[in-house]
Amino acid sequence: MGSGDRGPFRRVLLVGFMGSGKSSVGRALADLLQWEFVDFDEAIVEEVGLSISEIFRVHGEGRFRDLEAVVGAQLLSRNEVVLAVGGGWAAQSGRLKDLPAGTLSVWLQVSPETAVRRNRGSLVGRPLLDTPDPVRTATRLMRAREVHYRAAALFLDSESEGIEALAKGIAARIKGSEAESG
Ligand code: S3P
Repeated sequence: MGSGDRGPFRRVLLVGFMGSGKSSVGRALADLLQWEFVDFDEAIVEEVGLSISEIFRVHGEGRFRDLEAVVGAQLLSRNEVVLAVGGGWAAQSGRLKDLPAGTLSVWLQVSPETAVRRNRGSLVGRPLLDTPDPVRTATRLMRAREVHYRAAALFLDSESEGIEALAKGIAARIKGSEAESG
C-alpha cells in the first residue's frame, strides 16, 4: 500500500491503463463528492498548448514524462480533488508509495483487449497504442506496469463494474473515512 492511504481523504488518485475508465469514473465520482475533477493529460495540454500526440512527436516521450512529473506534483498538492492520472505516471517507481497524506489511490483494472477496444477512435491522445498490434502492445505495457499499479490502496474491477457503481464504491470509502475520523 502507498504511504498516503490513511483517511480522512482529501483527494483521490485514479490510476490504471489507458482505457481503464479513469476519466469517466473520475467525473462521476467528483459529482458525487462535489469535488473538482482534473485529468493529468488535460492539465498538460493546457500548460503546453500542444496535444499529447504533438508533445510526443515534437519533443519525445522523455519530455512528456518530465512535464507529467511537474504537473502531477502540482496537482497532488490540491485538496477536494479527483485526479485521473496518465497511465504512465503511476507506472514509475515509487510514485504510488510516496503520496501525500490524505490521498486514496485506486487502481482501475482492465484487460488489454478491453483497453484497446475502448481506446479505438481516441488514439490521438494515446500515441503509445498507435501500433500495428495494439493488443500486443497493451499486454506488454500492462505486464511491465502492474508491479507499480499494485502499490495502490484499492483495486477495482473496471471490466465488469459500470462507471456509476465504481464511483459510488469509491465515494463510500471517502465518506466512511470522514465518519471514522469524526
Ligand atoms: C499514457 C497514457 C495516456 C497519456 C499518454 C501516455 C501511458 O493517458 O498520458 O498517451 O503511458 O500510458 P491515459 O492513461 O489517460 O489514456
